[in-house]
Amino acid sequence: MDDRQITSAGWIGKAAYMKTAIVTGASSGIGRSITEMLVRQEFTVFGFARRFKSATGSDDCFQPVECDVTDLRLLEARVKTVLENQDGLDLLVNNAGVGVFGPHEELNTLDLKAMLETNFVAPILLTRLCLRALKKRRGMIVQIGSTSALKASPIGSAYAASKAGSGHFSLSLFEEVRKSGVRVVTINPDMTETPFYDQASFGTHEDADSRLLPHEVAKAVETVLLQREGSVISELTIKPQRVQIKKK
Ligand SMILES: NC(=O)c1ccc[n+]([C@@H]2O[C@H](COP(=O)([O-])OP(=O)(O)OC[C@H]3O[C@@H](n4cnc5c(N)ncnc54)[C@H](OP(=O)(O)O)[C@@H]3O)[C@@H](O)[C@H]2O)c1
Repeated sequence: MDDRQITSAGWIGKAAYMKTAIVTGASSGIGRSITEMLVRQEFTVFGFARRFKSATGSDDCFQPVECDVTDLRLLEARVKTVLENQDGLDLLVNNAGVGVFGPHEELNTLDLKAMLETNFVAPILLTRLCLRALKKRRGMIVQIGSTSALKASPIGSAYAASKAGSGHFSLSLFEEVRKSGVRVVTINPDMTETPFYDQASFGTHEDADSRLLPHEVAKAVETVLLQREGSVISELTIKPQRVQIKKK
């Protein structure tokens, strides 16, 4: 039997140094839960978002970075500042995202553009900015996708397309970088109780079996991180037991 299968604490348990992560959308919902999990796993997390509550302090483990990921010049400057003080990067979590839902012809064009830039363009550009540093540490890229990327999703066609596009980017990039030791993973959550649906005409159902909680998605990310080096969960889908949505 391969010793590593029984003794390895997984990729995150093996480093003799403090691991570093960038998590986008760290101010809320799934991104905040992933950040909390990573801090428990002794990562230093640079959390990107446009706004953090004034109570959000920084410490050695968590550094809030105010950044609109659709502002390329700002994104480049922020990433440069983070990386110039690090000897590589262990983990990039492309989580920041927005949802614009409704019949396609009724959607606001600027809202649609902002969604496509946030969900599809920004993760690709941010990955490009981080890839050299990730290769240096044989690091990991986690893309937060969506189950809507896996099926026809009317009333959310463009959202689903943005998630399917970033999922395909991850699939292709993994083939490109796997020889360098970098892992690229897509996590596809189903409907999760967060502020994500605040502006939508529907939301998660109150029945506990019909929605996920953010920490359950973070647990899925942790499972991926805990795989031993050399074994990659490249895609993971997490769903509630039942299908119900709440119309507002
Ligand atoms: N909730 C669900 O049912 C569900 C299901 C499947 C997939 N997802 C995906 O999960 C991810 C997280 O969503 P969530 O449910 O946790 O929603 P959320 O609570 O609304 O969090 C979204 C996060 O993204 C950040 N963000 C949005 N636009 C940004 C921008 N331009 N620049 C920087 N940060 C930005 C937000 O911070 P600021 O507003 O402060 O910038 C916030 O931290 C998204 O990619 C979403 O598509 C969610």
